[in-house]
Amino acid sequence: MFCYSIRVNKLFRLGVLGSGKGSNFAAIADAIDAGQIPAQVGVVLSDVEGAGILSHAREREMAAQFIPPGKFRTKLDEDAERGYVAALQAARVDLIVLAGFMRVLKGDFLRAFEGRIVNIHPSLLPSFPGLESWKQALDHGVKVTGCTVHFVDAGVDAGPIIGQQTVPVLDNDTPESLHQRIHAVEHDLYPKCVAALARGEISVLGRRVLWRKS
Ligand code: GAR
Repeated sequence: MFCYSIRVNKLFRLGVLGSGKGSNFAAIADAIDAGQIPAQVGVVLSDVEGAGILSHAREREMAAQFIPPGKFRTKLDEDAERGYVAALQAARVDLIVLAGFMRVLKGDFLRAFEGRIVNIHPSLLPSFPGLESWKQALDHGVKVTGCTVHFVDAGVDAGPIIGQQTVPVLDNDTPESLHQRIHAVEHDLYPKCVAALARGEISVLGRRVLWRKS
């Protein structure tokens, strides 16, 4: 069993990766501006050139960069992986925040930031990993779903769970309506988890993540 915690003595720096519109990133950036997260954004990176997350970052005058993902559809190729690691190291980030980054991170990337990568996923893991989790939940007929913030390890949507928030599934839900309500609770949960990490209040014992007030 391994145990680690992220402790900080200086202003905590985030490296944010996303492929989409960036609403979770915006929620985190708003929470930083409101003084709720003792951190700053070091850099925002995307594998999609026109991604909304890059526009959100540039509007806030933050460093933002498109790094082409290379030849694969679901992961970064070796050159791209090196590019992401170099950009994050150059920005001296303490924590990698995946905010809708739709590629699986592998070997060298995980080794470079072991125990320092977190992700948000739109289901109550370990149920419904992978794509379109809100649709998987609806198709399965569950009555409650939600979202999960977790550490990233070599599995897909599989690392130790930091926080979860529930969303009821309604009889008249469509995939879109359910996804929208999950998105809304993500914007509450992710900033709270990042704040706890930035304050050094989170430690990991095997698969269990413990929250301590500092
Ligand atoms: C969020 O719903 C997040 O949970 C999901 O992508 C969306 C990004 O939205 N992530 C995954 O599915 C990762 N497996 P955003 O760009 O508006 O933050």
